[in-house]
This record gives sequence, C-alpha cells and structure tokens, in this order.
Amino acid sequence: MAGLEPVLSKELEAIGAEDIKSLTRAVSFTGDKALLYKANYTLRTALRIFAPIHQFKASNEKELYKAAYAFDWKPYLDPKRTFAIDAVVNSELHTHSKYAALKVKDALVDQFRDKYGRRPSVDVKNPDLRIHLHIAQDQCSILLDSSGDSLHKRKYRFEKVQAPINEVLAAGMILLSGWKGEKPLIDPMCGSGTFLVEAAMIARNIPPQKGRKRFGFMNWVDFDPELWDKVKEEAHAKEKTLDVPIIGSDISANAVQIARKNIAMAKMTDDIEVRQQDFFSSVGVFESAMLIMNPPYDERMPVEDIALFYKQIGDHFKQAYPGYEAWLISSQIEAIKRVGLKPSRRFHLFNGPLECKFFRYDLYAGTKKHATQDD
Ligand SMILES: C[S@@+](CC[C@H](N)C(=O)[O-])C[C@H]1O[C@@H](n2cnc3c(N)ncnc32)[C@H](O)[C@@H]1O
Repeated sequence: MAGLEPVLSKELEAIGAEDIKSLTRAVSFTGDKALLYKANYTLRTALRIFAPIHQFKASNEKELYKAAYAFDWKPYLDPKRTFAIDAVVNSELHTHSKYAALKVKDALVDQFRDKYGRRPSVDVKNPDLRIHLHIAQDQCSILLDSSGDSLHKRKYRFEKVQAPINEVLAAGMILLSGWKGEKPLIDPMCGSGTFLVEAAMIARNIPPQKGRKRFGFMNWVDFDPELWDKVKEEAHAKEKTLDVPIIGSDISANAVQIARKNIAMAKMTDDIEVRQQDFFSSVGVFESAMLIMNPPYDERMPVEDIALFYKQIGDHFKQAYPGYEAWLISSQIEAIKRVGLKPSRRFHLFNGPLECKFFRYDLYAGTKKHATQDD
C-alpha cells in the first residue's frame, strides 16, 4: 500500500526475510517456504504475497504465448485443479492486460491438452490457483498468489460503519507511529473500532490472520501441513497480554454497537473498552497517552462546515488532552490546516483512492497555537 513500504520492509526484516527491497506499493524479498507461511500469517501491512515462478522477455503477444507454452506448468497445477489468471501491464508493447492474461491462459491450457490430453478449468471466483502476470515493457513475470483472499480481510470484521478504514492501513499507521503497547491508546472517533482491534493485536503480538482458514498456498502442490502448523504454533507462542488500556468512543450509538461486535469477534472484549461519547465533551484522563483519529473527511461522511470542524478538533486537543501525542489522518488537506497546531511528524498515505495526510501533534500541557505551517 502506498506509503507503507517502509513499515512492511521492517515487518519482513523482523520475520527473517532477506534481500528486502522497497518498490512502489510493494516490497520484494526472498525466503523459504516457512517464511512464506509466516509472512501470510503474521504480516500486518501486506495485502497479498506473490511467489515468482518464471521470468522472461516478450515483445508481443505471440512471444508471450510462446514463452508461456514453453514453461513447465505441471509442478504447479494438474488437470483436476482450477485456476485464474490476472495481469497488470505497464508497457507500450502489451497494451491490454486482459488480452495478455488470455494469451497465458491459452498457452497453459494448450500445454496440458497437448501433453496430457486433459486440461485444468478456469474458475475466476474461487480458483485453486491464482496466477498473476506482471509485464513492464518486455519484462514478463509469472507469479503465484500465495494469499488467496486479500490479507486486509481479518476475521474480526463483523460489520462496517459508513467510512471504515482499511485494516492494513490502520495497522500500518499504528506501526508508523511507533506505538507498541507501552502507553494507553484512545480513538475518540472509533467508528467500527479498526484502530482499537489492530492496536490490541499489535500490543499482544496476535497474528492478524489468526482464525483464517484458507490461504492460497494451501492449494499448492507442495503444501506442507506440518510446517504450516509449526509456523502457527511458533506465532502463537509469542502472544502476550495487554499492559495498557485501549479505549474507543464515538458519537454514534450504531458505530459503538458495531465496534463492540467487531471487538467481540476478535475476542478482545476484556482488552478494549468502547463508549458512546461526543469527542468535544471528552477529556483526557491519562498523563501521557496516544490518541489516534480518523475523523470524517466530508467525502463518504458529510460534515456541515469542515473547516470549522477541524478547527474545533485542534482546539479540543489543546484544551482536553495535554500530555498526549495525537495522530490524525485526513484527506482534507485544507481543513486539516485549521487544526492550528504544528505537526511534529508527517506522512503521506492513501485511504483507498483518497490522498491523505497523517500528522502527529505533540500536545504539551499549555500548548500554544502556532500559526499554521502545514504542508
Ligand atoms: C471516518 S469514521 C471512522 C471510521 C473508523 N476509523 C473505522 O475504521 O471504522 C468517523 C467517525 O467519527 C464519528 N464522529 C463524528 N463526529 C464525532 C464527534 N463529534 N464525536 C465522536 N465521534 C464522532 C462518526 O460517527 C464516525 O464513526
């Protein structure tokens, strides 16, 4: 995800990946099969993990078909299994991604038919094997999707509010902030509770995919169930209890109800407290704590006077939360300036298609408002 590459690189380093390289919206690395399982189970900021199986050059569709036909598909697929191919093309030589994917599909099917007399079928919805074709100019890569369903899908997501934050983005933001569970965390506009659950999972070392039953690699010919069990056991052995309060609140009774359901699904009712409250009548009760907030942007969630709303947020930070470190994400680049405090850290992220700022404000007791100097 754009802006989270450094966090993902750090996560990969922590699980023992090698040759880690930060790319655009992706990170490449090497590792063995255990690492692939571990990556899928424990990485909080990856959406999908691909394993490259073949690289070649092709300048046109004919060459693409030829190279894909020459590649031995048998180690990865048999005629009884289903597959799907999708493609991302960034090339003047191959302009249509769907057509490129179709060429590789034809080559694969023709190879099985010619060699074995039977061919695997295509299932776009729920295939055994998801194949990904990536083309940059004449450089083609064939990769297998080891994750299956996107890894932003966590088991706890029971219901959504109007504008929920993506789980991977929420986890990435908490990791970017450096919070690891050493001081209380509050989200006073918690919606469905995504920050709260992701924070509790980070602090407790709970794998983000705990509870998920299916991963793409389980359908692979070389799937090793014993190794998979071992990887899970090792991850579970690192779990710990929570030492600090994690508290959410929201003005909407419906959001509070949804957050509570999600928290219950995550089996974290004892770790996280949620209450209905207007942020503007809330008061910070801790001497030092982290506040993280994803207020409405007036995009999916309308706000009458967005500039005034953000100004009031800034005023309330200053009055009610001295000693806190407050983090705020918003796509409202102009309105966010009305917070009127100078950010001490700044990140540039994307919340879906929306370009966002993610700012940290240090709220010292008696913080004076600065002239706005946000970028
Ligand atoms: C963009 S949503 C937050 C989504 C949340 N991060 C999630 O993942 O579900 C903004 C939330 O702010 C809440 N909100 C708006 N004004 C508020 C206020 N004055 N006090 C507390 N919550 C407020 C809304 O009810 C909504 O749930």
